[in-house]
Amino acid sequence: MRTTELVSGFRQSAPYVNAHRGKTFVIMLGGEAIMQSGIRSIVNDIALLNSLGIKIVLVYGARPQINQALQQAGLEAQYHNRVRVTDDESFRLIKQVAGALQLDITARLSMSLSNTPMQGAQINVVSGNFVIAQPLGVDEGVDYFHSGKVRRIDTNGIRRQLDNNGIVLMGPIAASVTGESFNLTAEEIATQVAIRLKADKMIGFNEAGGVTDEDGQITAELMPNRAEEIMQRLAADSDACVGTVAFLNAAITACRAGVPRCHLVCYNEDGSILQELFSRDGIGTQVVTESAEKLRRAAISDIGGILDLIRPLEQQGLLVRRSREQLEMEIEHFTLIERDGLVIGCAALYPFPEDNVGEFACLAVHPDYRDADRGSILLKSVIQQARQRKYDRLFALTTRSIHWFLEQGFQLVTVDDLPSQKKQLYNYQRRSKILALDF
Ligand SMILES: CC(C)(COP(=O)(O)OP(=O)(O)OC[C@H]1O[C@@H](n2cnc3c(N)ncnc32)[C@H](O)[C@@H]1OP(=O)(O)O)[C@@H](O)C(=O)NCCC(=O)NCCS
Repeated sequence: MRTTELVSGFRQSAPYVNAHRGKTFVIMLGGEAIMQSGIRSIVNDIALLNSLGIKIVLVYGARPQINQALQQAGLEAQYHNRVRVTDDESFRLIKQVAGALQLDITARLSMSLSNTPMQGAQINVVSGNFVIAQPLGVDEGVDYFHSGKVRRIDTNGIRRQLDNNGIVLMGPIAASVTGESFNLTAEEIATQVAIRLKADKMIGFNEAGGVTDEDGQITAELMPNRAEEIMQRLAADSDACVGTVAFLNAAITACRAGVPRCHLVCYNEDGSILQELFSRDGIGTQVVTESAEKLRRAAISDIGGILDLIRPLEQQGLLVRRSREQLEMEIEHFTLIERDGLVIGCAALYPFPEDNVGEFACLAVHPDYRDADRGSILLKSVIQQARQRKYDRLFALTTRSIHWFLEQGFQLVTVDDLPSQKKQLYNYQRRSKILALDF
């Protein structure tokens, strides 16, 4: 039976659709990204994420557009300690630029043409006074005038809109309690909204599609401390992309304050946001609070993930078939490796306390993640659990992974060496090899 690319792609993305549904993402759309032709597909993809049940706050910036407008008006962009000084005249222009961008983005998100992915989509875009600002004031004798910072965020108000499936759109201008408005940075707003909303992800864009290493390769994962070293190096380099520095700065603060994952993807690559979120290995850089992978004991909520992993292996005859009900009863015996909310490896320890032995069973590592020691990491964890129970032997049954077990120190044994309860269940037709590891 032939499976089309569409069908297999659709099936492969299903676990991610389930993993992301109901989650909150803050998307930081810097002014550089908005200037590119790729902005059309980015906005379409944001609308697609919204229709998949992902709650989205979209924060746009306008740095290059503002600088261009100031230049055209013959005004000089002024900075103090890398922060814009917003005098009356510049602020008048900044409000115009930011207002126009807000209307443009809203219009794009409202598009519903029959030849676009947004046909039939009815998206409510909500902008409002969710951020309350305060002035930056005077620093070292320099008055920042209308440049401000975040004072409060109406998280309940944002949540209400998100719960109604609206996309919350925010720009760099926010009002203060005194009835004035202030010019903030989009990255500060995005960071603070992500932290205070307890968002699951923050997403940003740059030209390179992530953070590149010395060889020009995209670094897949960075912890905040390493990200900070890179950010400081980039900040000192006048040729470095301002948007990348701004995103890293935001991602480091957000991660340290509990936002688990911040993704940086390319603004010129069609569908980069979808590639990053709906494929096993994303394409951009993630700044993460902890390593993407976790080894842990399974819980009842992992059953769907384990089934996704083992069903194809059962169909190939590599693993014995387990029903969902059986798995539900046995879930406490399972250990798994989770990556970005997905189960990519699992193994079980079935107890045979009368014989002081355990069975190492249902070992599986997703094909995309093999040959990186995950199998032996799962084995080590199961050995540790067996030792805690004072077992002195693990046995395993396998038809096609005999050498893997031998390399891990197992030895071939016979049916007679199995615990009596297991002996009765041994399937002579399957003729699995029996291996044992003593410790
Ligand atoms: C067996 C399995 C869990 C290994 O996962 P893994 O994460 O790749 O394991 P490791 O990284 O620890 O070990 C990889 C090594 O084992 C080898 N290996 C992997 N599968 C093997 C197999 N079926 N037979 C023999 N050797 C195997 C690899 O070639 C690699 O060797 P290398 O280091 O010399 O290149 C994985 O291949 C799998 O899920 N297989 C399908 C299910 C299965 O057979 N389960 C066991 C039945 S009980």
